[in-house]
Amino acid sequence: MSKALDGVKILDFTHVQSGPTCTQLLAWFGADVIKVERPGIGDATREQLQDIPDVDSLYFTMLNHNKRSITLDTKTPTGIEVMWRLVKECDVLVENFAPGALDRMGLTWEAIQAANPRMILASVKGFGPGAYEDCKVYENVAQCVGGAASTTGFRTGLPMVSGAQIGDSGTGLHLALGIVTALFHRTHSGLGQRVDCAMQDSVLNLCRVKLRDQQRLERGPLREYSQFGEGIPFGDSVPRAGNDSGGGQPGRILKCKGWETDPNAYLYFITQGPVWAKICDVIGEPTWKTHPDYATPKARLPHLNEIFTRIEAWTMSKTKFEAMEVLNELHIPCGPILSMKEIAEDEALRASGTLVEVDHPTRGPYLTVGNPIKLSASPCEVTRSPLLGEHTAEILRDVLGYSDGECAAIARSGATGAVPGLAAE
Ligand code: COA
Repeated sequence: MSKALDGVKILDFTHVQSGPTCTQLLAWFGADVIKVERPGIGDATREQLQDIPDVDSLYFTMLNHNKRSITLDTKTPTGIEVMWRLVKECDVLVENFAPGALDRMGLTWEAIQAANPRMILASVKGFGPGAYEDCKVYENVAQCVGGAASTTGFRTGLPMVSGAQIGDSGTGLHLALGIVTALFHRTHSGLGQRVDCAMQDSVLNLCRVKLRDQQRLERGPLREYSQFGEGIPFGDSVPRAGNDSGGGQPGRILKCKGWETDPNAYLYFITQGPVWAKICDVIGEPTWKTHPDYATPKARLPHLNEIFTRIEAWTMSKTKFEAMEVLNELHIPCGPILSMKEIAEDEALRASGTLVEVDHPTRGPYLTVGNPIKLSASPCEVTRSPLLGEHTAEILRDVLGYSDGECAAIARSGATGAVPGLAAE
């Protein structure tokens, strides 16, 4: 069976997390992803957070599956010459260097277009055009400037960043969509184009409901926020709402049996309107079905604390999985708070290919997240990340058509660093 992106060549000039998550997705869909790395150093994440000395870190291996690696110093004359050959050969150049870095290497959009008019140039930067366009940005900065941190956490606590990497991986996802859209456009325009994703913009896109609430706030209090029921006045910007559900169906994280010792013995419980009668029966409050303070979603809003305290008395009598079983039967939306340990052991996630065990020559087997996007006609096989420069020789020969003598000259110039078997020929 062929892969959806078979035949597409991606020149992967990305590092750290945001760019690599994008190119990894494209590789999973079948693109040939050629990762260009600095000789001897490679992507900085290879040696960040290493759990085994001198072995590529999980940080790197889990972001760079299904790719090939070529080492190339693009600041040497031979290195940049080879890079230009790759630009002419590939369909997409993806990069997430600091603003201006690509231009400083001579890889300007104008020059790229002139060399390969079909080339798509896809970039991640921290900010779009404006006062901060030259800034370097990492994940948590993006969460702060994109509106996530000011709206996450508890009202009385500090702004909070999320464990979900919405700034890095979130932007990578946005960029991947931009790239396939530009590839589709190229099928009828015949031309490449630029795809730019700013991390601030991507986080804001994911926080769109909070901008919705900002505008609702101008017309009155946000009645579904807990603080409304607590009688605490709103300020002029969207407050942090703890674990209140972001939608129109109030929800909370509630304690379950064992919460005193298990930090994850909790359940997310949603008081969805259509199943309110079933909720009342389950928690033993049948009179709440018709009581004027509880019968309708609107009437319930000022009483959410009281309602959830009562529901919690019920959830505390069950483990999170027992509660989930009872509630699911009744179609009451809920979900246990799963620890990473529980997720790592989840058989269904393994069976679906969302969790995959991969073997690595220097690390051995490790667990990773596979492709969360399933295409029925383009199944995804997750293969290990490349060692630094592992495919240098084959890319020079097979992709760029250099002769053995030319390869040896390239290696002798120092452009690729030490590549076994290359300089000797
Ligand atoms: N050969 C030669 N030089 C190379 C090279 C290669 N193969 N690959 C990278 N370099 C050079 C770059 O050209 C740059 O040189 P310059 O500054 O002299 O122009 C240098 O390496 C470092 O690049 P830079 O991007 O500045 O790295 P950094 O480690 O200082 O910053 C980030 C890292 C992530 C903060 C920065 O790249 C950034 O802001 N990127 C955009 C936003 C982003 O993606 N952030 C999220 C990362 S998960």
